[in-house]
This record gives sequence, structure tokens and C-alpha cells, in this order.
Amino acid sequence: MLDWSETSAPARHTPLSFAASPLAEADQAGLGTIDRRGGRVSVDDKRMINCRADVNQLLPLKYKWAWEKYLAGCNNHWMPTEVSMQADIALWKSRDGLTEDERRAIKRNLGFFAASESLVANNIVLAIYRHLTNPECRQYLLRQSFEEAVHTHTFQYIVESLGLDEGELFNMYREVPSITDKAAWALKHTQHLDDPDFKTGTPEADQAFLRDLVAFYVIFEGMWFYTGFAQILSLGRRNKMVGIAEQYQYILRDESIHLNFGIDVINQIKIENPHLWTMAFQEEVRDMVRNAAELEAAYGRDTMPRGFLGLNAALCETYMHFIANRRCAQLGLARVFDETENPFPWMSEAMDLKKEKNFFETRVIEYQNGGALNWE
Ligand SMILES: [Fe+2]
Ligand SMILES: [Fe+2]
Repeated sequence: MLDWSETSAPARHTPLSFAASPLAEADQAGLGTIDRRGGRVSVDDKRMINCRADVNQLLPLKYKWAWEKYLAGCNNHWMPTEVSMQADIALWKSRDGLTEDERRAIKRNLGFFAASESLVANNIVLAIYRHLTNPECRQYLLRQSFEEAVHTHTFQYIVESLGLDEGELFNMYREVPSITDKAAWALKHTQHLDDPDFKTGTPEADQAFLRDLVAFYVIFEGMWFYTGFAQILSLGRRNKMVGIAEQYQYILRDESIHLNFGIDVINQIKIENPHLWTMAFQEEVRDMVRNAAELEAAYGRDTMPRGFLGLNAALCETYMHFIANRRCAQLGLARVFDETENPFPWMSEAMDLKKEKNFFETRVIEYQNGGALNWE
């Protein structure tokens, strides 16, 4: 049984006392000289960003939502090699099992994800981790980083199983303009934070950090990945590429927690730093979401120029508008597109593996041993 209560050990209750120690103040990374005279951390000392309390003390927990997501991630453990690729290999190698349009969409989809998983992982490890000054959030970031490695492994496994051209797939983010445009759009936010001179602590820098969180958690993982999942899961519903579809179901389940962790982080930073969430900044975030939906629409037209059964670029664009409005609502922002119906209502069901065990009529291993997830 988990005990969330604070330790009864002597604790320092005045965060200001940390300011008196130059060692603690300078050590937001947790790698500085150990402060031998420092007191124990109390819950009140903990902050999402610009924290002066020791970031190497996980307990006492302040943000239970972060710890709960860490546990949920651990409960969802899976490996791509546990999914059989036999049916996919047979279909991919058959001459008439897939149309040329379907092959193009599948390859571009795999190419987008193959490099994107690395971009997301790099952003966590090289940009976010350093500036998120809370140990329970860092604990989740460590779990998420591993999950991104598992996702990258999935694309290696798919390439190997189907005998795809690895150079073609892993270079699409450089060579296919509609994919490059998305990667470049997100990368500029990481590059800013990766600068060794970048430090949070001013409103400008803290807003740059928030921009990076929005770009990666809300847009990359929370919008672009979702249309990618819809493409493959739509094929899976028609009994095509069922192995990849099953792997995407597991990735989707992981990503839904990544997305919701990111939303919680942003909203908590807003609560602790209301001066950052200005009207101008809110409009900027809405513009980012709108802009990202347009990039995705261009990618959809490029990936599915003619469309195929149950899926086309127009439907994906409508889905993107639906998702964009939903992400805005999760951040407390007004919607950016006209209200629209979800054209893929089965997507939320695809996430719940317990409920939809026979979704693709393939072997599904139940890793989830906690409560049902509700983080679409
Ligand atoms: Fe991922
Ligand atoms: Fe992710």
C-alpha cells in the first residue's frame, strides 16, 4: 500500500532558507557539491521549475499524479518482439494483398515514427530533464525515456521483419518534405533549450521551456502521433498489417500517458507561475496548435493522395481539428477550429486493451495489472 503522507523527520519548512545556501541555489540539476549542512526537503519546498530544494530526494512526494503515471507506465510494460509478424510478412510479400496507396501510406507512416521516437527521446533527455526540477517528474521522465527506446526498437523490428529498406525509412524525416517540415518545426524548440547557456529563471526562458513542452507533449505526441495511429489502426480494423497494428495499440497506450503527463506538467507550471501564462502567450500556444494541424494536413495529403477504404486526407484533417480542439481544452484554452465530430470514434476504444481484447483478433498479452486507463 502506498503511503503519500509526508515523513515525520525534521523538515525545513521555509523555502527561503534555501536561498541562503549558494550550493543549493545553484544546483537545479542535482549534480552539484553535496550540501552537508542542508536540511531535509519538505513538500512545500518542491516546485516544477526553478526549484531550490534538493532534486535528489524523491520523498516526500508532492505531485502524486506524476508518481501514478510512473506506476501506470511500469504496469504497461511490453516489448515489440513479443508480437508475431507472420501475417504482416505474408501480406507485405504478397503481390495483391495491399494496394500501392496502402503501401505508400504504411511506409511514410513508419518513416515518420521511426525518427520521431528518437526526436522525442532526445528532447526528454537533453532538454526537458535538466530543467524540470522535481524528482517525481524526473522519475516519470526516466520511465518515458525507456518507453521511447522500446518504440524505436519497434521500428527496427518492423524494418527487419518486413525486409524494408532501413536507409529509406530512417531518412524520411530528412528526405520527405512533409515529414521534414514537422520535425524541423518541433526541433527548433529543443535546439533553444539544448544551448549550454540556456537557463530557466526569467519569464522569457521559462516561456521557452513551456513552448518546448507544448511542441513535444501536446503537438508531437498528442496530435501528430494520433493521426499516425489512426492510419495504421484503420488498416488493422480491416485485418491488414495486424502485427504492426497491435504494436501501435501498445504505443498508443504509452503515448496517451506521455501526453497526459505533459498536460499535467504544463498546467502545474501555470498554477505555480501564473505570470508566465499571459494572454499573449496563450494566443501563441493556440497559434502553435493551429499551425501544427496545418502541417499535419499537408502530411496527410502527401501520405494519402487518393485515400483508401475508411481513410483519406480529408478525414484525417477533420480528426486533427477534433484533436486540436481537445488539446486546447486540456490546457484551458479556447478551441482553434470549428467544433467537429470525431470521425474515428473507435480510436478511444483501441486504447483500452482490456475492453477490446479481440480488436484485431490477434494475440494480445495483458500487461496492465492496475486499474483501467482513462487517459485518451
Ligand atoms: Fe514514443
Ligand atoms: Fe512518447
